[in-house]
Amino acid sequence: MVFAAIVAGGIGSRMNVADMPKQFLNLGDRPIIIHTIQKFLLSKRIDRVYIGVHPDWTDYMSELLEKYFGDSNACVTVPGGADRSETLFNVIDRIESDYGESDSNVVLTHDAVRPFVSLRIIEENIDAVLKHGAANTVIQSIDTVMVSSDGEFITSVPERKHMYQSQTPQSFNIALLRKMYQSLSEEEKGTLTDACRICTVRNYPIYIVEGETVNLKITTPTDYKLAQVILDETNK
Ligand code: CTP
Repeated sequence: MVFAAIVAGGIGSRMNVADMPKQFLNLGDRPIIIHTIQKFLLSKRIDRVYIGVHPDWTDYMSELLEKYFGDSNACVTVPGGADRSETLFNVIDRIESDYGESDSNVVLTHDAVRPFVSLRIIEENIDAVLKHGAANTVIQSIDTVMVSSDGEFITSVPERKHMYQSQTPQSFNIALLRKMYQSLSEEEKGTLTDACRICTVRNYPIYIVEGETVNLKITTPTDYKLAQVILDETNK
């Protein structure tokens, strides 16, 4: 089966809005997270959409689901965790408690605050994860990336043609991801700033799905303004 895990457990501290996490702010006539969920509901191959939400906001999320999707059970709210990976594993635990463990189940994990993901990207993630076990959506890096190991001097300048910027969805075979995660040491788990690192630490190849510049992550007030411009352009 194919599941979506929309991670929305953050509080959006860099957005600097006091009253609610950024995923609940309106973009046009709907909250950002509703745009995102609607993109996943467009794919006929996704069996269920799980949404990992900060525990203080699960009731609010359920109200939104009721308002926009009625009593459809296509979407499920799950309490999020202390960081993005914990939110993801809370969702995976819930999927397995609802459907049992299976070697063929896959999950497309997606940031709630990337509302412009396209159906093409979603479908290519499904194809890629079913075939390869792991896939990530990326775009070629526009800027040259520089490495500094001490924060004071540049230590290397990797060739730009090999540099990519990560977007989401990031997609995994659930059994494979769990097995690799369980095999990590506590020290290795501490370095997991991104779910794809679970694969790279274990040398498991992650297939590349080509992303789109418009699939931006709304992180700051500037991104939010940009998203409003993109929405106006796409509605013309
Ligand atoms: N996320 C999550 N669980 C957490 C933290 C983050 O599911 N405990 C999600 C966010 O809700 C977001 C995605 O991970 O959809 C990307 O994270 P980011 O943009 O950093 O979101 P926030 O953590 O909300 O933002 P900030 O770092 O500015 O507080």
